[in-house]
Amino acid sequence: MASSSSSRGDGTANPNSALDPPPHDAGDTPDDDVHTDGTDIEHNQDIELDTGSDNDSAYAGSVNSSTWTASLTSSIQHFREENGRTYHSYRDGKYILPNDDSEMDRLDLQNMLFSMTISGALYVSPLQNPLHCLDVGTGTGIWAMDFADAHPGCEVIGIDLSPIQPTDVPPNLTFLIDDCEETWHYRHPFDLIHSRMMVASLADWPKFFAAAFANLRPGGWLENQDVWTLKCDDDSFTLDPPSCSLARWWNLTCEAVEKIGRSMVEAPLHKRRMIDAGFVDVTDETYKWPINTWPKDEKMKLMGLWSRENTVEALEALAMAPLTRILGWEKEEVQVLVAEARKDVMNRDIHAYWSM
Ligand SMILES: C[S@@+](CC[C@H](N)C(=O)[O-])C[C@H]1O[C@@H](n2cnc3c(N)ncnc32)[C@H](O)[C@@H]1O
Repeated sequence: MASSSSSRGDGTANPNSALDPPPHDAGDTPDDDVHTDGTDIEHNQDIELDTGSDNDSAYAGSVNSSTWTASLTSSIQHFREENGRTYHSYRDGKYILPNDDSEMDRLDLQNMLFSMTISGALYVSPLQNPLHCLDVGTGTGIWAMDFADAHPGCEVIGIDLSPIQPTDVPPNLTFLIDDCEETWHYRHPFDLIHSRMMVASLADWPKFFAAAFANLRPGGWLENQDVWTLKCDDDSFTLDPPSCSLARWWNLTCEAVEKIGRSMVEAPLHKRRMIDAGFVDVTDETYKWPINTWPKDEKMKLMGLWSRENTVEALEALAMAPLTRILGWEKEEVQVLVAEARKDVMNRDIHAYWSM
């Protein structure tokens, strides 16, 4: 998932280079998932097509969303309202996805997809007794809460532009409203810096990697998990030329985000940029999230079921602000595109997947 995990070396041999699996993992990461030689890994390379009927039931509901009740200044709590969605107001306009209940539900659902992808683990880095962890762009804080619960001896900080995290959190977890594109001021170097689904958020990824490097203890780990793009291994879907409304939706969203200098397609560059920033033991693992239940394999079909819900919910969330604010579309035009793209997401004859 451009699940790039890399260590901050200090010019000496990395004590973690043996890459032992994390001790707490619910499901062990397969041995062949972890590389020490810097080569890339692609998972689920050939997904077999299910030619039978689709009798799965739709995902029934969403996991709980939460409300921030701490005393923040009213300007931070007073979200921008636009086209029926709400958006962060701190550093207004920087991040193009909404922060409302629907989006929070989607983020929590997506958290489940990440968990399934790495067999129930919270991370793939070979951590040992972490004392300090930073979650950059923590969203609803769901990962940070799970991590803090799993590591009660670790002080965890989650930062975000939006105050959408719960207040009832593990005692070793603090949420901060902060802009990660500003200079970082933390009291302790971190054992792990975790950043997930931050493409389209950052204008300057090399700056981010440099900041992460400077704020890790020697031997500490940076783990990025990001989406790359929509792909397909047969001729049922293409982006160039766009074969359907889903392809058009993705191309237009990418085009709009590019215009404000925040590319959607950054994940393939993570590894090179980490190495350039000084990281060692950099690995890059690629996974597939089918857009719906088209695969035959039961695990991939289940992934597709969750991914389908995530993709359907992402259609408007991703496109509304970029297409209206940047490309000048009307809300109704976006809604028509979203409705058409939704049909493609539900269409099991389209064998597309998210390359993660
Ligand atoms: C797609 S969400 C991912 C949330 C979380 N990492 C997860 O995987 O569930 C991206 C998050 O990054 C936050 N974000 C975007 N730009 C940011 C910035 N410059 N500083 C801090 N947070 C930012 C957004 O507010 C949003 O909550």
